[in-house]
Amino acid sequence: MTFVVAENCIKCKYMDCVDVCPVDAFYEGEILLVINPDECIDCGICEPECPAEAIFCTHELPEGQEHFIELNQELSKTYTNIRRSKQPPPDADRWNGMPSKLQLL
Ligand code: SF4
Ligand code: F3S
Repeated sequence: MTFVVAENCIKCKYMDCVDVCPVDAFYEGEILLVINPDECIDCGICEPECPAEAIFCTHELPEGQEHFIELNQELSKTYTNIRRSKQPPPDADRWNGMPSKLQLL
């Protein structure tokens, strides 16, 4: 088991998750953050911190978002490690809850 970032992070990137992670397991892409499963120690602290409710442990991922397990693993190899939060995008709230954001990746 590990924790993963799922679809609703896309274009929201609130980044509250970054500051609480004790092992700096978050990686940043242009429109999404992901968790490196090899670094995550499964503490679960980040899950309730996300205002977009985009973080799940793998066995609680919403139906149809199981592919985010592999996406977190793959994208964390190329994304940049992030240890401190930055400003979220100015239009983050507009994207919160928007369906079918995966196609934007
Ligand atoms: Fe970091 Fe814990 Fe979240 Fe894993 S579950 S990404 S270790 S805060
Ligand atoms: Fe994304 Fe939520 Fe973190 S929107 S950047 S997983 S706080």
